[in-house]
Order: sequence, then structure tokens, then C-alpha cells
Amino acid sequence: MPVMTTPIMTESDLREAVARELPGVRADLERLVRIPGIAFDGFDHAHVERSAEAVAELLRGCGLDVEVARAGGQPAVIGRKAAPPGAPTVMLYAHHDVQPIGDRMLWESDPFELVERDGRLYGRGAADDKAGIMAHVAALRAYGDRLPVGVVVFVEGEEEYGSDSLERLLAEHREKLTADVIVIADSTNWDVGVPALTTSLRGIVNCFVEVRTLEHAVHSGMFGGAVPDALTTLVRLLATLHDDAGNVAVAELVGREAARVDYPEDRFRAEAGLAEGVRLFGTGRITDRLWTKPALAVLGIDAPATGEAPNALVPAAKAKISVRLAPGDEPKRAYAALRAHLEQHAPWGAQVEVTFEHDGAPCVIDASGPMFDAARSAFRTAWDGTDAVEIGVGGSIPFIATFQEMFPQAAILVTGVEDPHARAHGPNESLHLGEFARVCLAEALLLARVAEVGRG
Ligand code: BES
Ligand code: MN
Repeated sequence: MPVMTTPIMTESDLREAVARELPGVRADLERLVRIPGIAFDGFDHAHVERSAEAVAELLRGCGLDVEVARAGGQPAVIGRKAAPPGAPTVMLYAHHDVQPIGDRMLWESDPFELVERDGRLYGRGAADDKAGIMAHVAALRAYGDRLPVGVVVFVEGEEEYGSDSLERLLAEHREKLTADVIVIADSTNWDVGVPALTTSLRGIVNCFVEVRTLEHAVHSGMFGGAVPDALTTLVRLLATLHDDAGNVAVAELVGREAARVDYPEDRFRAEAGLAEGVRLFGTGRITDRLWTKPALAVLGIDAPATGEAPNALVPAAKAKISVRLAPGDEPKRAYAALRAHLEQHAPWGAQVEVTFEHDGAPCVIDASGPMFDAARSAFRTAWDGTDAVEIGVGGSIPFIATFQEMFPQAAILVTGVEDPHARAHGPNESLHLGEFARVCLAEALLLARVAEVGRG
């Protein structure tokens, strides 16, 4: 007896379908970018709620069963569509929250309006990671009701703020989230025109350190010379965190030289926007420094602003420190080491108080097996014959390690919409339109190839 099956979409069907969907996808990206959903404390979380609702609506429009889920933190969106008989289920991950915009004056256009300039779309979240959400939507729309796999779309709402409630949320929804393959659309490509498959990410530990040397501010002339001010003391403490070569000086952090990809220094300098004459710091290959060794940066300091600073000794000052952890390191252990370092290096007996903000584990992905081959093949096709480079990234996606622990069998394909010019987290974040079209096509092709592997 003949079995009724929906005809499989061919590569050219998919090319056509994705091209057809792109204008609508862009219009919906524009709607998402208008919602300033920032999960950080002190921001209006009503926007995060609206953002989750907008994502839920998009997924309902793709014919998915959708719920907005939370576990004490910001809302995530889960959308599901059952697999055709015998086909694998693919989880599609992205996040809908964004980073704060920083100094508005540094933006060339409204951060919450998607504006096109020179083939790029500018706006906060235009790349990280609202375009990741839209890449999933593009692939789903391209298939319509001919989707060859089951899908679970998981769109997190507090990725940029440490994913604090994620573990609980995943545990509570474990059954629904089970998948054979997961596609994470939250990383970067190697260059414009060159795709990447991300196989390692660094972890992260963020904390605050407050230094106190006085019970109250005093006249800097009357007491200066004998009393250490808190800001000088803090700066001196922060200076102990690197050695003279610029390597992180906190003992016991994991780091190794392992990367095989060459990142030419002049290209790196240009992409980073390094100021004239500034030397790189740290040792080893650039990719080692970025991907497989720890990094430490001071992200902010609370101290009197220079325009208003009186001639008084500062009694207390606080810094925010961020450590990126190499794959193989462990956030709780690293935080203990950092804390001990800060407490033991306080100059002049200053009081030091360290408080934890949040952390995320690093991860390594073994990119072998048929699902990874499927991804490489989809990328090659979408980028007209250019092979994906296997890269590490220095950034963090805490979700991945958590997911690996819960579903050790699942193949984790870390893809993304960014390129080295995307300026995620900075002013004038942007998405390359041409690359975005390739990302959407690659994802549609990937689902077809995953279905084939699943059947085989
Ligand atoms: N999309 C980034 C992760 C990323 C960065 C991937 C660079 C590829 C290249 C993600 O949204 C992010 O920024 N995560 C935070 C996590 C943190 C708040 C726990 C990060 O890395 O700062
Ligand atoms: Mn992101």
C-alpha cells in the first residue's frame, strides 16, 4: 500500500524558500530590535516580558506549540513541533535578551531601531542574538508544514546576565527539551564569506571587589602622604592581576596552548580596533590567548567622577572584574582562586571585600560524527564551496555546558550570525545582511541533512 508522505524539499526548493522568506524575517527582526529587553538588574524587565511574548508569537506563527517558561528568572520561550515518524528532533537555541547599550552618544543611530548602512543592519541585538532567533524562524518558515525533523526551539531570556535560573528551568522542562541534535545560533563566523563551526567556548566568572582604607573621606592635603586613598589602593591591587607580560597572574587557573587556527596579527589588530602604537599583551598564539587561556579584565570602577572629584582622599572604591576561563577550568574553583588572590594582595592592610556576580562553565565539543559532517556540508553549500573553519571562541554561552551535562548524547552544533565586525556588546552592533542570508540558508539545509542522517 502506498504511504502518503510529504515530498522532501530539495536544495533548490530551500534556496528559493529562504530567499522568499528573507524580507519578512528582516521585518520581524526590526520588531524584535525595538524591544529593549535587558535582563540586568536595574533595567525594566517588562521589556523582557514583551520580548518573550514577541518571540512566542513568531514561533506560534511557525505552527509550534509554544509556552513562556521561567524558573525565578527572566522568561524563556519554548516552542515544539513533533518529529515525523522515525525522524530526529533538533533543538534550536538562541536568546532574546540583549546587553545594555552603554553610552548612547557613541551610537550613530537609535540602538533600538534597525537601520541599514552599507549592507549591514545596525541596532542592539541586531546580531547578538535576535538575528539568531530569526535564523531559526527563517528555516522553519522556509519549510512551512514540510519540516523533515521534530523541533524544540529554546529561546533564553537572561543569557547576557549569567543565565542564573537556567539550570532549574532546564531541569523543570527536561522532558520537553530532549533532542538528538542541538543548533546553537549564538556564535560567530570566521570572517565575512567564511563560515565557522565553534568547538570550544570559554567560561566566565564575574565579581566585584571593594577596597576600603578610611571610614570617611578626608582632606587630601591634611591627610595625604600618610593615608593611602582607596582608589590608589584598588588600582594597585588590580595591577597584581597580570604579570609584566600581560598574562593573568591568578594562580591555579587552567590555560594551555592548543589552538591550530592562525589569526594574523594585523588582521586581529584591525578587527579589535586597537589604538595606534598599542602592543598586544599575553603570550602564545593569538588564538591561544583568546580561546584556550584565561583572560582577565576590569569592566568598571565606582569612584568619584573626575569632573566632580573634590580634593579629598577617597575612602572606598569598587571594581567589577571579569575572568574568562579556559576550557577545562571550573568556575567555582576559579572564583575561589581569584578571591584568595584579591584578599592576599591587598596593599597596606586595606580592607577588601569580594562579592560574586555570576559564572558560567567553559565547554569543549568533539565535532566528529555524522551530525557534524551534516553541518559542515550545509555550511559549504550555503557559502558556495567555502569550508567552515573550526574555531574556539573567547566568549561564553553557559547554556552549553549545562545542556551537555543533561544530554550527553546530543550533538551540539554551535553556529551563529556574527562576523568579526559585528561589535556585539558595543555601540553600533550590526549584522551583515549577506552573511545573514547564508546563515538562514545553511540552517535550512542543515535540517534537511540532519533528517537524512537520522533516517540513515
Ligand atoms: N553570543 C555571546 C557569546 C559569544 C561571544 C559567542 C563571542 C561567540 C563569540 C553571548 O551572548 C555572550 O555574550 N555571552 C555572555 C555570557 C555571560 C554574561 C555569562 C558573555 O560571553 O559575556
Ligand atoms: Mn549572544
